[in-house]
Amino acid sequence: MKKIAVLCILLISTFSCSYNSEDDLTEEVLIENFVTYESDIKPIIDNNCISCHSNPPINGAPMALTTYDDVKNAVENRGLIERISSTDTGFLMPFGGPRLPQNLIDLVIQWEEEGLLEN
Ligand code: HEC
Repeated sequence: MKKIAVLCILLISTFSCSYNSEDDLTEEVLIENFVTYESDIKPIIDNNCISCHSNPPINGAPMALTTYDDVKNAVENRGLIERISSTDTGFLMPFGGPRLPQNLIDLVIQWEEEGLLEN
């Protein structure tokens, strides 16, 4: 009799656990917000990069980063993520440092992973 009771408790708790986590998963998917250029990335670039990567670029910067296409192209073809993630101050962007806060670097990485959405 005792064994059956234990088994019942085990079954109930297993069932309710898996049910709960499925519930959490659904909620997470529903509230997920994608990272976009307009709301997340443009402000980072405007605050940290366009003092040189303006249009036209100044201070020796080789290209502008003022539009969605500019920034997307720099991620795809000019190693933008490697530059902002670097710990080598000779390679790092912003040029001459300091390195961006890690949460902003992570946002740019997430933007790339989610497909470089514009808005
Ligand atoms: C103080 C001026 C300055 C700032 C601010 C700056 N850059 Fe640069 N950037 C440069 C210069 C100069 C170069 C060219 C020399 C080099 O490649 O290191 C460059 C090169 C780059 C390159 C490589 C381009 C290529 O084709 O090789 C990328 C990508 C880049 N910058 C991204 C950024 C990003 C993103 C930011 C902001 C987080 C930023 N830069 C901020 C001056 C700057």
